[in-house]
Amino acid sequence: MTQASIDIKPVAGALGAEISGVDLSAELSNQTYDAIHQAFLDHLVIFFRDQNLTPAQFISVAKHFGKPDHYPFIESIDGYPEIIEILKTEDDTINFGCHWHSDTAYMDKPSLGTMLYALETPESGGDTLFANMYQAYDALSDGMKRMLDGLRAFNSSEQKDLGGRAQKMAELNALKDTYVEGSEALEHFHPVVRTHPETGKKSLFVNGSHTVHFEGMIEEESKPILDYLIAHMKKPEFQCRFRWAPGSIAFWDNRCTQHLAINDYNGKRRRMHRITFEGSKPV
Ligand code: SIN
Repeated sequence: MTQASIDIKPVAGALGAEISGVDLSAELSNQTYDAIHQAFLDHLVIFFRDQNLTPAQFISVAKHFGKPDHYPFIESIDGYPEIIEILKTEDDTINFGCHWHSDTAYMDKPSLGTMLYALETPESGGDTLFANMYQAYDALSDGMKRMLDGLRAFNSSEQKDLGGRAQKMAELNALKDTYVEGSEALEHFHPVVRTHPETGKKSLFVNGSHTVHFEGMIEEESKPILDYLIAHMKKPEFQCRFRWAPGSIAFWDNRCTQHLAINDYNGKRRRMHRITFEGSKPV
């Protein structure tokens, strides 16, 4: 059992911290895992570099932070139902996750968090942006907060503004071989402002990829406010940006962040393994 002396360095003002001094393939003490978990809650997304994990080791690390869940739309890799592969080849032009979102916000219990492990990365390009939804909520006016508190919104895996299934299929172009054909749309109402079950802090929980309208309002009525919130959450001061290399891992909290995979590396290859964690019903 290794008692790692970990170093935690914030990467931006809003969120994100890089953790060094830890080899995740080693058997780490509970104290080390507790320190990593605390860094995850404090910084919302944490990053590791130069890790070397087999799929079984990746799952075993993940299990220290929650219960790996099955992702609904993509087939998992052979022998490991908890892991999907996010692949963009030299021939693909569209990548997975290229719009701001929080993973599986359309599920009854959206994912707690996601771990992404880089296997092959382009020499440049393919970074991921993250945004802090506690700060996005805190920065709203008192009047807007009063209006949103208690409101719920409808979230769908086939958000109409993105062109529904056709767009989804196009987005998954890069993953065409592993898309689960005939997947049903997943749709749920969730609070627009949710309270984090571990930190007790409030965060904005609407996103441009999945949120369709507010409860009790039609889409046209909801749109101006949703458009405002979606533009607001993208402000650079709420963001950090992560530059990947093979062996990098990002672990983000879907309950209080959003992310976007930048598609600026056509003609190059990027391959990642991803685990999403079972979440709880947002309140
Ligand atoms: C995602 O999980 O949305 C993809 C993130 C990435 O590939 O950087």
